[in-house]
Amino acid sequence: MNEDLQKRIEAALANPRNMGELADADRVGTVGNSDCGEMLRMWVKFKEQNGRKVIDQATFQSFGCETAIAVASLATELIRGKTAEEALALKTNELAGELGPLPPMKIHCAQLVEGALRSALTQTTPENVSKTAAPPQGGVPLIERFTAPTQGVKMTFLDEPGQP
Ligand code: FES
Repeated sequence: MNEDLQKRIEAALANPRNMGELADADRVGTVGNSDCGEMLRMWVKFKEQNGRKVIDQATFQSFGCETAIAVASLATELIRGKTAEEALALKTNELAGELGPLPPMKIHCAQLVEGALRSALTQTTPENVSKTAAPPQGGVPLIERFTAPTQGVKMTFLDEPGQP
């Protein structure tokens, strides 16, 4: 990875945005990459604005590498105010925002973010799934909350056949 990209990632990580669960989210999507073992979950909440249903807020939690966290931080800002269709139309490198084009070995980190977003926005389960799907909070390690069986939340592995 070149030095400039490393600096941009470090800058994004110095002030990560939108980390953590989102109370009363309308959608949640979880993806994993079985090659590198990273996982990322994204929550999305909508609002009505000028007759359009747009993304009011998106948050994430990640067992991802620094690049995935940096992209998720930037992407959750980028999609705010967009409709689900507009957010889904964004290309992988567009989600990486000011990080700029990622080297081939890091593209899959942005694809993890794209996959979580796609999973959240294209799910067919009822809205407000996070209200029923959120595992118990107090004292439960994050890894257990990620892997615990949850109602209405499907873990997708990006390297499964048929996945982007
Ligand atoms: Fe796998 Fe970054 S190394 S998500």
